[in-house]
Amino acid sequence: MVDLSLHILDVASNAFKANATLVKIDIEEKEEYIHITIEDNGCGMNEEELKKVTNPFFTSRTTRKVGLGIPLFKQTCEQTGGSLTITSEVNVGTCIDAWMNMHSIDAIPLGDIGESIFVLVTNPYDVDVVATIRFKEQEKVQFKLDTREIKIILDGVPFSEPTIMVWLKEYIKSNLS
Ligand SMILES: Nc1ncnc2c1ncn2[C@@H]1O[C@H](COP(=O)(O)OP(=O)(O)OP(=O)(O)O)[C@@H](O)[C@H]1O
Ligand SMILES: [Mg+2]
Repeated sequence: MVDLSLHILDVASNAFKANATLVKIDIEEKEEYIHITIEDNGCGMNEEELKKVTNPFFTSRTTRKVGLGIPLFKQTCEQTGGSLTITSEVNVGTCIDAWMNMHSIDAIPLGDIGESIFVLVTNPYDVDVVATIRFKEQEKVQFKLDTREIKIILDGVPFSEPTIMVWLKEYIKSNLS
């Protein structure tokens, strides 16, 4: 994968298949490391599934036999000296905790995180998304988006409404810059 944003999009999308109603993405940029957590309240995995999940030949998908999302992300983190751990509980949810050393020669850039957040937020399953980003220069949370709050303001107008899509895209872009 060319950048972290695509890994985040890919791994967070697993929450949709897991029938989650909420997925939380937290990105914290430190001096040397970037710390990413992706948490959902979906179906979770039992111990056996959890053991197999970093193995590319384990997948519950039926269209092809190999699931690559998590193994690839884990490999990306580990090749920089970082790590990826998963905790999960059946009917409670799953949490992916990833560290990547940005000073490593094998680190990949964060990429267009705004675009990944936009795609996640406008998911057709109506799953709520909370995204938080703390960049290294700033002390406080620099970016926060919570679709539950936006839905209250929109009062029933769906995210798929073209004018809302345009507004969301602009909102994300301007809050990230
Ligand atoms: N958040 C999650 N909640 C429940 N199960 C999960 C979650 N993430 C992954 N899994 C389980 O682990 C398997 C492997 O996930 P992974 O993302 O590596 O591959 P995939 O989603 O099957 O395929 P790909 O990501 O390549 O499209 C999934 O098929 C699913 O069974
Ligand atoms: Mg996947």
